Amino acid sequence: MNDILIHHESGITTLTLNRVEKKNSLTVAMYAAMAKALEEAAVNPDCRVVVIQGHETVFSAGNDIADFLNNPPATQDSPVFQFLRALSSFPKPVVAAVCGPAVGIGTTMLFHCDLVYAGDNAAFSLSFVNLGLCPEAASSLLVPQMFGYHRAAEALLLGEPFMAEAALEVGLLNRVVPPSEAHRLAQSVAAKLAAKPQSSLIATKRLMKQGLAAQVQAVMAEEGEMFGRMLREPAAREAFGAFMQKRKPDFSKL
Ligand code: COA
Repeated sequence: MNDILIHHESGITTLTLNRVEKKNSLTVAMYAAMAKALEEAAVNPDCRVVVIQGHETVFSAGNDIADFLNNPPATQDSPVFQFLRALSSFPKPVVAAVCGPAVGIGTTMLFHCDLVYAGDNAAFSLSFVNLGLCPEAASSLLVPQMFGYHRAAEALLLGEPFMAEAALEVGLLNRVVPPSEAHRLAQSVAAKLAAKPQSSLIATKRLMKQGLAAQVQAVMAEEGEMFGRMLREPAAREAFGAFMQKRKPDFSKL
């Protein structure tokens, strides 16, 4: 089965994470597929808006841990970084629909979407510290900016999940609805955007983003380098080993 479904209709390109049995955790192949889909959508005149969605029960459990350990992102050309660059510099509007768990990059990718709608079952988590890692996707820059420093520290240093209502309050979400409505709402907002003049949408998005664009790319590259290094270090090895063995990690000596 295809782990990323790509559907084009009426100017809307919808990318659906479709690996529900593994909680939509993202493999290298899935990052590569999403990067390619976004690169194509950016230049395809028939695509006016992109929607990113998961399943009504789960958005994404973040990186596929086994796949990440076997194929750690070694360079800035790794598919995960290609995906993050394609999304963060995507010129047209991106709408996300998020239900259920959104872990790690499942949450950080949302900072690069323009409109985010969530089911009331959405649970966000920036649990990098708990995995012996550091933030990625420019979240070390964008989370403090959006949440305020102390709430960012709570999210990034404690790494505890926060629910849809809290995410709405800090500005990560546009609206919270029952999970059965989130995908439909994202499509109807995307349809409204698709009916607007594309040149105005693109110009407006670029103007809103340009102040931070260079900094976002620079921070993302610095985080990526650190993340790749930390992935090979003992704390991450312990965290990932514990997950695979279904036990609690022991960081007492790290
Ligand atoms: N990588 C690889 N496999 C994953 C995964 C991940 N990130 N997240 C879940 N899975 C797999 C589980 O191993 C399990 O596989 P199995 O059925 O073969 O045992 C299956 O998906 C279902 O996961 P499970 O943990 O039983 O579901 P849950 O509903 O109890 O919990 C989550 C869902 C998302 C809260 C939980 O799976 C989780 O915390 N995952 C890890 C998230 C994470 O740390 N991601 C960051 C990676 S950098």
